[in-house]
Amino acid sequence: MKLGLHARYGGWAVVTGASSGLGTHFAEQLAAEGFALVLTARRTDRLDELAARLGNEHGVETLVVPLDLGVPGATAQLVAAIGEREIGMVIANAGFGFSGRFEDVDLATYERMIQLNCTAPTALCHAFVPALRARGRGGIVIVSSIAGHQPTPFFAVYGATKAFDLMLAEALWDELRGTGVDVVGLCPGGTRTEFANQAHMREESAGAEPGPVVAAALRRLGRGPSVLPGLAMKIAGSMHRFLPRSWVAASTGGTLARSLLGKSKADARRGR
Ligand SMILES: NC(=O)c1ccc[n+]([C@@H]2O[C@H](COP(=O)([O-])OP(=O)(O)OC[C@H]3O[C@@H](n4cnc5c(N)ncnc54)[C@H](OP(=O)(O)O)[C@@H]3O)[C@@H](O)[C@H]2O)c1
Repeated sequence: MKLGLHARYGGWAVVTGASSGLGTHFAEQLAAEGFALVLTARRTDRLDELAARLGNEHGVETLVVPLDLGVPGATAQLVAAIGEREIGMVIANAGFGFSGRFEDVDLATYERMIQLNCTAPTALCHAFVPALRARGRGGIVIVSSIAGHQPTPFFAVYGATKAFDLMLAEALWDELRGTGVDVVGLCPGGTRTEFANQAHMREESAGAEPGPVVAAALRRLGRGPSVLPGLAMKIAGSMHRFLPRSWVAASTGGTLARSLLGKSKADARRGR
């Protein structure tokens, strides 16, 4: 069902991480709304195929910008490639995680993760908020995670990057209220994309379908600062409000040791 987002925000939509998972679904749903699309990620073949398909199915214009957003300065290259095109929606979606004991993962992996998950959405919003504010309308989705709601032992840096994304989204939601620019933080739980495989997680098959998760974010724009799609996620994401933080960290650590690493927490801590 159409939400009338193009009538509300106009212009082009830029989608980072469009080559798979949630990003592809954002691109599909925004093309169906009538947005011309800037599609970016590293895998050019996937982006080209998606651009051709959405052009055929919805008659929308597309611009493919292959980029590694995990490299400093890449967002500036994206902005330069977009040029004078009028942007009406920004979907800061590209991201990855890496599970394991904190010290067993390379620092370089963490640095790339922080660049992609935190610096790139910040730079993207910083680049486009002035123009969105000036035109008096626009929509921004920053993809966080249920992991951004609580400490995530054995996924510590990823959870921290997603807490950053959630706080950024909710703060901008308030800062931009009344300007016509709507911001929402999307906090999915496990969703069936390539994420689990990229994150070296043991459980790959469980989770929500990505289409409804994306639809929940688009529906939430202009209605609140963030969304946890699905009742189970709403409950899980509220746990930290009612329980001691020590309990939340310990309980989440046990759950993640089993689900991410397939081990008891004691074995995961010892690196067995
Ligand atoms: N799936 C879940 O369970 C889940 C749960 C909560 C939150 N999330 C969040 O949802 C977002 C989308 O992830 P997904 O689930 O759709 O996973 P996905 O299928 O792995 O998609 C990740 C996207 O990010 C792009 N990407 C990764 N590294 C990049 C880089 N260095 N430069 C540019 N693009 C890069 C990938 O494209 P290329 O590889 O082609 O570059 C891909 O398009 C992420 O921010 C993730 O943290 C996912």
